Amino acid sequence: MAKNDYVLFDKNTQAFIYNMQTNAVQRMLDFDYASGRKTPSVAAMINPTGSDGFQKFFFGLKEVLVPVYKSMKHAAAKHPNVDVMINFASFRSAASSTEEAFAIPQIHTVVIIAEGVPERRMRELTAKAKKLNKIIIGPATVGGIVAGQFKIGNTGGTIENIMDSKLHRPGSVGFVSKSGGLSNEAYNIVAQNTDGLYEGIAIGGDRFPGSTLLDHLLRFEKNPEIKMLVCLGEVGGSDEYTIVEALKKKQITKPLVMWVTGTCSKAFKTEVQFGHAGAKAGSEAETADAKNAALKAAGAVVPNSFDDYGEKIAQVYKSLVKKKVITPKPEPTPVKVPMDYTTAVKAGLVRRPANFISTISDDRGEELKYGCLEISDVFKRDLGIGGVLSILWFKKLLPKYATKFIEMTIMVTADHGPAVSGAHNTIVAARAGKDLISSLVSGMLTIGPRFGGAIDGAAQLFSEAYDAGRTPQQFVDDMKAKGANIQGIGHRVKSVHNPDMRVQIIKEYAKKQFKSTPLLDYALEVEKITTSKKDNLILNVDGCIGICFADLLRSEFSKEEADMYIKLGALNGLFVLGRSIGLIGHFLDQKRLKQGLYRHPWDDIAYMVDMKE
Ligand code: ACO
Ligand code: LMR
Repeated sequence: MAKNDYVLFDKNTQAFIYNMQTNAVQRMLDFDYASGRKTPSVAAMINPTGSDGFQKFFFGLKEVLVPVYKSMKHAAAKHPNVDVMINFASFRSAASSTEEAFAIPQIHTVVIIAEGVPERRMRELTAKAKKLNKIIIGPATVGGIVAGQFKIGNTGGTIENIMDSKLHRPGSVGFVSKSGGLSNEAYNIVAQNTDGLYEGIAIGGDRFPGSTLLDHLLRFEKNPEIKMLVCLGEVGGSDEYTIVEALKKKQITKPLVMWVTGTCSKAFKTEVQFGHAGAKAGSEAETADAKNAALKAAGAVVPNSFDDYGEKIAQVYKSLVKKKVITPKPEPTPVKVPMDYTTAVKAGLVRRPANFISTISDDRGEELKYGCLEISDVFKRDLGIGGVLSILWFKKLLPKYATKFIEMTIMVTADHGPAVSGAHNTIVAARAGKDLISSLVSGMLTIGPRFGGAIDGAAQLFSEAYDAGRTPQQFVDDMKAKGANIQGIGHRVKSVHNPDMRVQIIKEYAKKQFKSTPLLDYALEVEKITTSKKDNLILNVDGCIGICFADLLRSEFSKEEADMYIKLGALNGLFVLGRSIGLIGHFLDQKRLKQGLYRHPWDDIAYMVDMKE
C-alpha cells in the first residue's frame, strides 16, 4: 500500500493486471527478480471473459503460479494489500473497467494502457478520481517505473534494456513525460548522465490525461529520495504552463531540466499533428518554442535542443553532487535474470541434443513434407494412399505397379465378415458400450500368427528356405520335423474347392505386373504339396501377400534392405491398416443397430452370425 500521497509504488506494491497480458506480467516479474524484490509485483490477473484459475510464470529460476480471477471484486477480497490496477482493457472497455476499479476502496492507482479512450469519458473519470482521491496514469501510456522497486507493464522494454538503463536500482532523478517511447530514451540518457532514475512516469499522449506532468512533478518535489527533476513536454496544450506557474510560485524548488519537443513544427507551413492526440499547436502559446522560453524564464534548465538535454542533466547532477545534495552510492552487483530457453536458442547461446531422430516427414518448414515431397506435391502427383504409404514406410516413392499393389493389399484385407476373431472382439466391445478406439483396439489385439499377423512370418520362412536352396518338398519336411505350422499356409474355411478370391486377385496381379516372382512361384510349389495332404492347406491371404511383397521388395531394394523390412514386421502393418477399416465399420454397424435398423438399399443384408471357431 502507498505509504503517503507522493509514493504510488514501492518495493512492496502489488498490482492486479486486468486482461491476460502474460508477456507484460513476465517482464514485471523479471524486473522484480533483477531488483531483488522478495515478492512478485503482480498479485493476480483479472480475466473478465475467462474463469478463475492460475497462470504460470518465472520468478528468477523458479516457476510461480499467479492467480487469475474472473471478478475484480473477488480478486480484491482475496488480495486486500493490492492498491494498483494496471488496466490492459481495450479502448472500448477501459473506462468501464476503470470505474469498476474505482468502486473498490483499496485500489488507489489505475494505469490505463489503451489508446483511443473517448475524451469525454476520460474527463468524467478524471473528475471522479479527484473526488475519490485516486490517481489515474494514462490513457495511451506504457506506464512508469520506480527503479528497483516496481515496474508498470512493459515500461523499459526487455530486461536487457532495464539493466542497461540501470532501472533495477534507485538513483536520484524523478522523470515525467507524455511519451512512453521517449521516456525509454530518456531513462537511458538519465542513466548515462546521473546516478540514475528514481521514478519515471509517462502520462500518455492524449489531450486529457488522467494525471498531468505537474501532478507527478509535485509528487517528486515532495519525495525526499528524489533530488532533481527531469521532464519532457510536448508541442500542443498548456500543461507546461502549469509547470511554469509552479516554478514561479516555488511549488517546485528542486532543479528541473526540461525540454518541450516539437520545436521542428515551425519548419512546416501548416499546423502539424504529431503522433499523440494532444501533440498539435492550436496557438502560438502552444508551440514548443514558446513553452521552452517560458520555462527558461521561470527558472527551469532548458537545453538549446534535444541534443544537449543529456549535457544539461549532467551539469545539474554534478552541481548537486558538489553541493552534497546527492552522494553517489556504490553500484550494486546486478542480479542476473535467467534467459528464457527459446531466447537463448535463438541467440545461439545454448544447444541441446535432440530427443530423437526422425527421417520420414518434417513439419518444421512452411509446408508439411512426406519424405522430400511437400504435401501439396503429393496431391498434385495424385500419389494415393499407396504412394503415401510407400514414402512413410519405405522412405522411397515406389513405382506405380508397387503403390497399386499396396492399395490392393489394403482393399483385400479390409474385412472378412463379422465371424473372424478381430471383428468378433470389436463387435463385443462395441455392444458392451465401449467407444470407437477401445472397440477398435480390442479387435486389433487379436491380430497375431493365427490371424492376420502371419504376413512377415510367411515372407521370412519362404524366402529363407528359398535362399537356402531347399526344395519345396524339403521345406515342408523341415517344417513337419520341427512340428511347426508353415506360416501363410492353411485356412479354416477356404480350401482348394472353396478358393479364396482375395488370394487369386493378389496372385494374378503379381504374376502380371511384378518384375519377377521367384518366391511366389516357390510358394505355389509348396502349396501343391500341402494341399495334396489336406485341401484347406492352401496359400492363404497372409501368405500370398507376404510372399508377393517379399518379391516386390527384392525388386526395388537390396536383398538386405528387403529382409530388414520383413524382420521389422512391416508387412503385418498392411493387415493392421486394412483391417482397421473393417473393424471401424463393425463398430459403427453395431452402434447403428442399437439405434434400430434403418431403411437403406443394403438393409436386406443382415447376417445372423455364428463364430467360425
Ligand atoms: N502348415 C502345416 N500344417 C498345417 C498348417 C500349416 N500352416 N495349418 C494347419 N496344419 C495342419 C495341422 O498340423 C493339423 O494337422 P493334423 O490334422 O495332422 O493334426 C491340421 O492341419 C489342422 O490344423 P488346425 O490348426 O486345426 O487348422 P485350422 O484350420 O484350425 O487353422 C490356421 C487354420 C490357424 C490358419 C492354420 O492353418 C495356421 O496356423 N496357419 C499358419 C498361420 C497363418 O497363416 N495364419 C494366417 C491365416 S490367414 C488370415 O488370418 C487372414
Ligand atoms: C481374415 O481375413 O480375417 C481371414 O482370412 C481369417 C479368417 O479366420 O477367416
